[in-house]
Amino acid sequence: MTDTATATRTPVLRTDDLVAGYLPGVNILNGCTVDAYQGDLIGIIGPNGAGKSTLLKAIFGQVKIRGGAVLLNGEDITSLKADKLVAKGVGMVPQNNNVFPSLSIEENLQMGLFQRPKVFAERFDFVSGLFPELAKRRKQRAGSLSGGERQMVAMGRALMMDPSVLLLDEPSAGLSPVRQDETFLRVAEINRAGVTIIMVEQNARRCLQICHRAYVLDQGKDAYTGTGRELLTDPRVIELYLGTLAADEDAKRDRKEPEA
Ligand SMILES: Nc1ncnc2c1ncn2[C@@H]1O[C@H](COP(=O)(O)OP(=O)(O)OP(=O)(O)O)[C@@H](O)[C@H]1O
Ligand SMILES: [Mg+2]
Repeated sequence: MTDTATATRTPVLRTDDLVAGYLPGVNILNGCTVDAYQGDLIGIIGPNGAGKSTLLKAIFGQVKIRGGAVLLNGEDITSLKADKLVAKGVGMVPQNNNVFPSLSIEENLQMGLFQRPKVFAERFDFVSGLFPELAKRRKQRAGSLSGGERQMVAMGRALMMDPSVLLLDEPSAGLSPVRQDETFLRVAEINRAGVTIIMVEQNARRCLQICHRAYVLDQGKDAYTGTGRELLTDPRVIELYLGTLAADEDAKRDRKEPEA
C-alpha cells in the first residue's frame, strides 16, 4: 500500500497514542499508535512483557485507558465494553481459555453469534468454508480437541459475527512447528477472505513472512514499523530482537521436532 493511498483513507482500526495500564500509576502502554486498513494483515511483535497482549486488551475494553483513543472506521470506541465492541465489529481471540470446553464445536460457534442468532446458517457456511474439519465434527466437545483445533474453533467463533477487524493474540502459541505453520496458513487464508487482522505473535519471523505490515512493540511503544519484509531485513530489528529469536526458531525447525 502506498503512502498516498493510506493518507486519504480511514483505517478500519486505529490506536492513537494509547496510554493504558492495570495498576494505578503504572502505564504498560506508553503512547502506542497502530493502524490497520481494510484488508490488512498486521503483525505485532516484541519481547515478552512489551505490552502486546495489553494492546489487544486495551482495544477490547479490558484495560484502563489513560490517554489516546481507539477508533473503528473513524468512530471513537475507546473503553467501550466487550459486548458493544463485538456488536460494532471487533472480534477478539484471546491468548488463553478461548473456547468453552464443555460445549460442542457447533455450540461454541453459536455462542459467537449470540447477538444475531438468525444469521447462523449463513455465517456457519462461511466459517465451514475456512475450517471444513470443524463442520464435519460439529457435535464434538471442544474440550476434547487438540490445541490447534481449539485455536480454530476460537477463530471460527470470532468470525461468526462477521467482524470488521479480528484481533488474534498468539494463535501459534503452544503448538508444534507443523501445527504452527498450519495456523499461519489459516490466518493468511482468513485475511484473503477479506477480514482485516491484527495478530500478536511470539514467532516473529513467521509472522513477518505473512503479514503486510508489522509493528515492533518495545516497552509499550511502537518502536518500529514497516512491511513484513522490511522488518525482517532491518538491521536494528534483527539486532535488538529478531536475531537471537529467529536463530532459535531456525534451530528448532532444523531439529524437526515431532508433531504434537
Ligand atoms: N492483569 C494484570 N495486572 C497487572 N499487570 C499486568 C497484568 N497483565 C499484564 N501485566 C503486566 O503488563 C506488562 C505487559 O504484559 P503483556 O501481557 O501485555 O505483555 P506481552 O507483550 O503480551 O508479553 P508475552 O510475549 O509474554 O505474551 C507485563 O509487565 C505484565 O506483568
Ligand atoms: Mg502476550
